[in-house]
Amino acid sequence: MLVSGSGTNLAALIDAVGSDPGFGATITVVISDRLGIKAIDRAADAGLPVEVVPFRGGRKAFTKAICRAATAHQAEALVLAGFMRILGPEAIRAFPDRIINIHPSLLPSFPGASAVAEALGYGVTLTGVSVHFVDNNVDHGPIIAQRAVPVLPEDTKESLHARIQWEEHELYPQVIKAFANGRLRVDGRRVSWE
Ligand code: GRF
Repeated sequence: MLVSGSGTNLAALIDAVGSDPGFGATITVVISDRLGIKAIDRAADAGLPVEVVPFRGGRKAFTKAICRAATAHQAEALVLAGFMRILGPEAIRAFPDRIINIHPSLLPSFPGASAVAEALGYGVTLTGVSVHFVDNNVDHGPIIAQRAVPVLPEDTKESLHARIQWEEHELYPQVIKAFANGRLRVDGRRVSWE
C-alpha cells in the first residue's frame, strides 16, 4: 500500500484482510513518501512493515525507489490510498494493470488533489468516489467502481469528504478483494467483474 496521509483507507483494508479469510491478499508493506503521518502509525500498530521513500532525485528515481521497496517485500500490486505523488511510467511497466487508486470524485470530473473542494465550489449536487487502475495520466485509468454521494446544501469540504470517505471505506476493500481473487478483467477502458 502506498500512503501519504491519515490512512483511513489503509485501516479499512487492514480490517478487511484480517477479518475475511477469503480476502485473497495480504498487505506485504506500507510505503510512504513522508514521515510523521497517521498512516504509518496505523501500519505499525497492525504489525505491518513500513518503508519511507522520500521524494528525491526526480520522478524517475523516486518511482524506481518505490518499485524497489515494493518488490523487496514481494508485493505483486500497488494499492494507492491518499498517496500524494505521481508515479512515472516505470511503475506502470513494472506493475501492468496492477496499480489501483481511489479518488474522491466521480471521475472524469474533478481529477487532482482538490477534488472535494472543487466539486463543492462548482455546485454539483452529486459527487462521489472512483476506484480505478492507474495509467500514465493522473486520475485517468480504467474505472473499476464508482459510488455517488449527494452534496447537501449545508455541506462544508470536511462534511462532504467525511461522507465520501464512508463510501470509500466500504468500496475499496470490495474492489481489492475482487482484484485479489482475479475477478477483474480490463478491456481497453472498460473493466468487467466476473
Ligand atoms: C481519500 O479521500 C482518497 O480518495 C484520496 O485521499 C484520501 C485519503 O484518505 N485519494 P486516507 O489517507 O485513506 O484517510
